[in-house]
Amino acid sequence: MNEIDTLSDTLLSEIAAAQDEAALEQLRIAALGKAGSVSALLKTLGAMTPDERKEKGPLINGLRDRVQTALGERKDALGEAALDARLASERIDISLPVREGPEARGRIHPISQVIDEITAIFGDMGFAIAEGPDVETDDLNFTKLNFPVGHPAREMHDTFFFAPDANGERKLLRTHTSPVQIRTMIAQEPPIRVVCPGRTYRMDSDQTHTPMFHQVEGLVIEKKAHFGHMKWVLEEFCKAFFEVEGVKMRFRPSFFPFTEPSAEVDIQCSRKGGEIRFGEGEDWLEILGCGMVHPNVLRNCGLDPDVYQGFAWGMGIDRIAMLKYGVPDLRPFFEADVRWLSHYGFRPLDLPTLAGGLTS
Ligand code: DAH
Repeated sequence: MNEIDTLSDTLLSEIAAAQDEAALEQLRIAALGKAGSVSALLKTLGAMTPDERKEKGPLINGLRDRVQTALGERKDALGEAALDARLASERIDISLPVREGPEARGRIHPISQVIDEITAIFGDMGFAIAEGPDVETDDLNFTKLNFPVGHPAREMHDTFFFAPDANGERKLLRTHTSPVQIRTMIAQEPPIRVVCPGRTYRMDSDQTHTPMFHQVEGLVIEKKAHFGHMKWVLEEFCKAFFEVEGVKMRFRPSFFPFTEPSAEVDIQCSRKGGEIRFGEGEDWLEILGCGMVHPNVLRNCGLDPDVYQGFAWGMGIDRIAMLKYGVPDLRPFFEADVRWLSHYGFRPLDLPTLAGGLTS
C-alpha cells in the first residue's frame, strides 16, 4: 500500500470513530489545516515534475476530497445523533391516563334523575312544571283540598306541625304535593296542565318510608277534560317511564277528599326471581292515586265547576325510583354516602330525553 492509501485509511477510520464535533475539528485541522497531513501532501505537488504531478495530483486531490466528504458526513451524523439524544432525554409521556374531571366523577342522585325523567315525559306531552314551598299553611295543605277541619283524613297524614305563630297560625311541612294544585289554580286561568315534583313530609320511618320523601303531582283543568283523558295520560307516562311497549293498568275505586270519583292505580308486573318487571306477569303493583278534581276544590280556587272540570294524580317518586332502578331500601337515598351514590347514581352528562332515551 502506498503512502496516500495508508494515510487515507487512517484518516477515514479516525473520522468514523470521532465521538463529537470537537474531536472532528481536531481531525480536520490535523489533516486539512495549514500544517495538516493532507495539506503537506498537497504542498509536495509544486515540487514535482509534470509527469509525477499527473500521476500523484489526482491521488492527492482525491484524498483531500474524500477526507472533506467524510468530515462533512460525520459532522451531519453526529448532529443527528445529538438531536436524537436530546429528543429522547426531553421526551414527555403524554399517554399517561389523565385524572377524571368532576363531570366524569360526579353522580346524579337517582331521585334527581327520576325527576328529570318525569319532567322530560310530561314536558313532551305539553305539561308545565309548577312548584310550591315545603312549609305550607294548613289551609292549602288540607282545607282548600276539601279536608274539612276535624275530618279523619287529616289524621292519616302524620303531619309535622310547627308551633303556632303570633297570629295563632300553625304552619306545617306539606304532607303531599297536592297544595301546589291549589296554588296553581288560584294563580292561573285554565286551561291548566302542570306537573309538580317536590319534597313532602310525614312522621314515618322504615325500609320503604322516610320522614322526608318525594311526590309528583299532576293537574289538568279544562272545560272538557275527562277520566278517559286521564287514563291515557297515565298509561303513556307509565310506558315511557318504565321503557316498555305496553302496560296493563287497573283503576281501583278509592277515596281522596279532593277528587270524586277517586281511584288508585295498579300496574301489572311479574315478580319472578325476586325481580319486578313491567309489561308482563300476573301480579299488580300500586303506583299512584288519582281522580276527577272535586267541585269543592274548584270552587275553593275560584273556578266554576259548571264550567271547568279536570283530573289530578299524585305519585311517590322515591317508590317508582326504587322500582325502576332496583333499589331495595329507601333510607340510603338520604344518607349521603358517596359509595351508594357511585353505585346507584347517574353520569351527569347522560340527560334523560325521550328522543335520546331516558336511561342510556
Ligand atoms: N295527595 C295524595 C297522597 O299523598 C295523592 C293523590 C291522590 C294526589 C289523588 C292526587 C290525587 O292529586 O288526585 O296520598
